[in-house]
Amino acid sequence: MRNILTGIKPTGMPHLGNYLGAIRPALTMAEEKNVEARFFIADYHSLNTVRDAELLRSYIYEVAAAWLACGLNPNKVLLYKQSDVPEIFEMTTILMAFTAKGLMNRAHAYKATVDLNRSKGLDDDHGINMGVFTYPVLMAADILLFDTDYVPVGKDQVQHIEMAQDIAGVLNRNYEEELLVIPKSRIDEELMSVPGLDGRKMSKGYNNHIPLFAPEKELQKTVMKIVTNSQGVEEPKNPGECNIFALFRLFASETEERALAKRYRKGGMGWGEAKQNLFALLNSKIAPMRARYDELIRNTEGIDAILTEGAMRARRIAANTIRRLRRAIGVG
Ligand code: ADP
Ligand code: TRP
Repeated sequence: MRNILTGIKPTGMPHLGNYLGAIRPALTMAEEKNVEARFFIADYHSLNTVRDAELLRSYIYEVAAAWLACGLNPNKVLLYKQSDVPEIFEMTTILMAFTAKGLMNRAHAYKATVDLNRSKGLDDDHGINMGVFTYPVLMAADILLFDTDYVPVGKDQVQHIEMAQDIAGVLNRNYEEELLVIPKSRIDEELMSVPGLDGRKMSKGYNNHIPLFAPEKELQKTVMKIVTNSQGVEEPKNPGECNIFALFRLFASETEERALAKRYRKGGMGWGEAKQNLFALLNSKIAPMRARYDELIRNTEGIDAILTEGAMRARRIAANTIRRLRRAIGVG
């Protein structure tokens, strides 16, 4: 059996990038033989940035409903909320003692904030809380507590997995080899960076995202905002240099992709029509999932029941690892 695990931070409704880069590949992996899959909502990771209780509560439901609407079967796959599993936080405390501060100083996300502060003439630590600084330790705890073999994530998360490997290695060398399973990241090269409306990586942070389950009209309006060049309708166009095409091909069959590429090269199709094509394709793929999503969101008690059951199962696994660790380090 191989254990796979991944988490999504509830910081807003998941977008196409999250779906293609995280949710869909994780669900595909969960279908593989001899795989035990654990997916969770990383709500304490969100607390660093989401400071509105009502908003956080609704984001948690949105992420849970998104997993379920995208096809997660809670009878097969473990789905839980990070904050429901207190063992994760005991694990974090244990790992803290084995995590070099210098390792945290090198985290990309933290370094980017320091650089931004410097560029504005602010103190290095301006606006950085300890939750942000120790983010990779909590994430290592999420992973290592469940003896995870593979973590399906986008490219931006690879450094965090490497840090979890480092931290696990320090414990293993100090106590016993194989005390903790060393996790590996699994990224799909092609899907590792889904482009957003402006061609940069799709991200809530850049506000260039297409929400996965926005109502149909809103989806259409958002697709219409995709940035294009100023080529006229008749001009032949290069599919390789187009944000619309880049998104289209991620959802299209090979035949659909080839057909659209041909129309691009031939000319006679304007950006408005290309966007309309993309919208129709997206909507046809998303509509059945959106219907399930809307239904789940209307009945959050159903989600609560799934998360409560998930937490119970997760805690049973977690308790075993904690017992093993407590014994190994000498507190148990
Ligand atoms: P955001 O950048 O919008 O805040 P997150 O950082 O919460 O998104 O990402 C959640 C998951 O989705 C991660 O596994 C991340 O790698 C993946 N992901 C996010 N944006 C993209 C993207 N544009 N392409 C591929 N994967 C993505
Ligand atoms: N840091 C991840 C992100 O921003 C979310 C996350 C938290 C995670 N804990 C995890 C992902 C453990 C994989 C495994 O996307």
